[in-house]
Parts: sequence; structure tokens; C-alpha cells
Amino acid sequence: MSSVADIATVNWRADFPAIPEGWHYLDTAATAQKPRAVIDAIEKAYAEDYATVHRGVYRRSADMTIAYEAARQRVARFLNARSSDEVVFVRGATEAINLVAQSWGIANLKAGDRILLSKLEHHSNIVPWQLIQERTGVAIDVCPLTEDGRIDLDAAEAMLTPAHKLVAFAHVSNVLGSLLDARRATELAHAVGAKILLDGCQAVPRIAVDVQQIGCDFYVFSGHKLYGPTGIGALSARAELLGAMPPWQGGGSMIDRVTFAKTTWAPAPQRFEAGTPNIVGALGLHAAIDYVDAIGLDLIHKHETALVAEARAALSAINSVRLYGPVDSAGIVSFAIEGVHPHDIGTILDEEGVAIRAGHHCAQPLMEHLDIPATARASFAIYNDADDVAALARGVERVTRIFG
Ligand SMILES: Cc1ncc(COP(=O)(O)O)c(C=O)c1O
Repeated sequence: MSSVADIATVNWRADFPAIPEGWHYLDTAATAQKPRAVIDAIEKAYAEDYATVHRGVYRRSADMTIAYEAARQRVARFLNARSSDEVVFVRGATEAINLVAQSWGIANLKAGDRILLSKLEHHSNIVPWQLIQERTGVAIDVCPLTEDGRIDLDAAEAMLTPAHKLVAFAHVSNVLGSLLDARRATELAHAVGAKILLDGCQAVPRIAVDVQQIGCDFYVFSGHKLYGPTGIGALSARAELLGAMPPWQGGGSMIDRVTFAKTTWAPAPQRFEAGTPNIVGALGLHAAIDYVDAIGLDLIHKHETALVAEARAALSAINSVRLYGPVDSAGIVSFAIEGVHPHDIGTILDEEGVAIRAGHHCAQPLMEHLDIPATARASFAIYNDADDVAALARGVERVTRIFG
């Protein structure tokens, strides 16, 4: 395996103005810092080019519409979707999953049907389905995990039946960093006639995703974890599915014709984008994808894998530290220290200039499975380096000294 020193030949941190010297930001799984290119694109959009989209008859609005639709095409190319018509802009992954649940779910699920989730899902891939369960009577099954914290696809295969209409799994766990074999999960779902939704929030910033190669039906992500702005994300769905789905929110932009007698809908994806969209968010996301692609996800993945290996080695050398998740976790390391609450770990690390996340990470069923209330989580990105890992290890050593 290449070491961090081998591959960190470029100082990517210099691209991120909000990371001062001596501050070790290890909370990218919550939200990524923004490169100058994204900040500049947002500033230019508001300071020079701003106007509404899809409605204006004047030049500026037409240009903004072209830029907004170019962002959609960029997302489609990034995920290798068949066309930009397969991309719906949403606020983020949470909204994307709620959209699928409220639209596809209400139209297609009924009592007697089943959904398969997993024990490591983020609350945003659990609660929307529970809301649908209340309305339709659909049953929810929970796939167990392997010993090292992956979704157990052998168990999924044994559990799936023709009653299952949907499988919804995280592509990468936000707590354990476990990477799903998305292709196999898709084949298992399709073998019983179920659709599959993949929550790609933690995957798209870390690995190259090709939705056609995976073969999935729905793929969702949030822009802010991909170095883009908050308030923008995408749902990618196969065109025939989107085309058959009813709207889930009503308003301007999503209609064909409105009368008090009857209203007809615009085709997808507009049908799912009611109201004035997050125009500048889409442009910021476009800039973020350009930034990530210019570096290359293979290199980003290699960089983060090397950092994770170094972090796991440094932390496991400290007595009383327990690591969670598979050894080859993607960019994320969860850990605990015997007898110390993760919030205390986070507070002491903060005094050392190390920002980590401590808590249940919106994955309470996973915490229950691990039999702990919370973990400390360090997550890595392109702007991290060996210094950040060393600062993390120093901080954790200090925690163990303080707590004896
Ligand atoms: C795996 C996963 N799914 C979904 C979400 C929800 O993303 P958002 O809050 O941006 O909608 C997150 C955010 O932490 C996540 O890590």
C-alpha cells in the first residue's frame, strides 16, 4: 500500500481557505470544506450572473438556465447516468430519499409488501420508510452486518423474497466506512423483482460511481459532502421509473397546465422540482464536481485509504482504544476509548486543534447493535495529510492520560 507521504505530492489544503494552519479538520463525513473554485463559482453567480431560471425571457435568465441545466448534465456525467433527464436536483440525500419514498413508495407499496434496509443505515434511510410504513402497511426487514461491520449480502440473499419491492442500502457507511458491493446488492434485489436505492452520500466523495455499471434504480447524494455547497444534492433514477412517478410536491415549475378543473404535470425531472430551485447551489455543485474530477477519484480514494491505514495503526497502538469497522474502511474511522465518553474525547481533541465528530452519527440502530451509545469518528478528505493523523494520535494519547 502506498504511504501518505508517497502520494501527497500536491498540497491540496492550499485550495481550502477555511482550513487555517494548525487546524486538523477530520469531520468531512459530516460536511466537507469548500475549495476556492467552489467559493469563486458561487460568488460569481451571485455577483455577476444572477437571475432566475426557466422563466425569464431576457438574456441573463436564459444564460442562467443554460448554466443550471449544464450543472444537471455535469451530475449525470459524474454518475454516468444515461442522460440529464435522469437527474433531479434536491436539497440533499435526505430530501432525495423522502422524494422516492413519498412518490414511488406511495404509488407502489402496499400491505403485504416488504422493504429491506440494513442495520448500519443513516436515519435518513430509515425514517422516510417508516413514514411510508405508517401510510401503506409495508413491512420493513433489517439486514444484519458481518463481524467487521459490512452489510451482510449473504444474509440479504437469504432474506429476500418476491414480497420485497425495495432494497435501500448505504453505499458507504457514515460510521464504519464499510463499502458495499453495490453491484452484487443490485443483482440480489433484481433477482426477486425488487428495486434498489443506494445512499451514496459517503461514496461519491470517495470512490468513482457508475450507476449504469452498478445497475441500480435510485442513487442519491448530498453536494455538501462532495466539497460543494449545502442545500443541493441529486437523485439519479432510471428514466422509466421517474417518468412513471407522481409528483410529491406541488407548485410552480413542475406543471404542464393548471386549471381549477384539472392540472397536468411537466415531464421528469421538472415534475419533481417545484418552486424556484437552488440555482446557485447547482452551479456550486458543478464547480465541486469539476474540482474532484480534476484530481481524480482514484487518487482521492488512494489518498484517503493511506490516511485511514495510518490512523488505524496509530490509534490501535494506544492502549484502551477500540476501533470499529473493516480495516479497509473508506475514509472513515470510528473508535472509542474504554471508560471515556466520546463527547469528552471530542472536547479534548478540540483543545488540541483536532475537529472530529462524537455521537451516534444519526445511526442509533447501529449504535444499539454495537452496544455503545456513541463513537468518536475521524473522517478524511483530500485536504488531510500525515500531520492530521499525528495530531489525532497525540490528542487521543492525551485523552488516555487525562482519564488515567
Ligand atoms: C450515509 C448518509 N446518508 C444520508 C445522510 C444525510 O445527508 P443530508 O443531511 O445531507 O441530507 C448522511 C449525512 O450525514 C449520510 O452520511
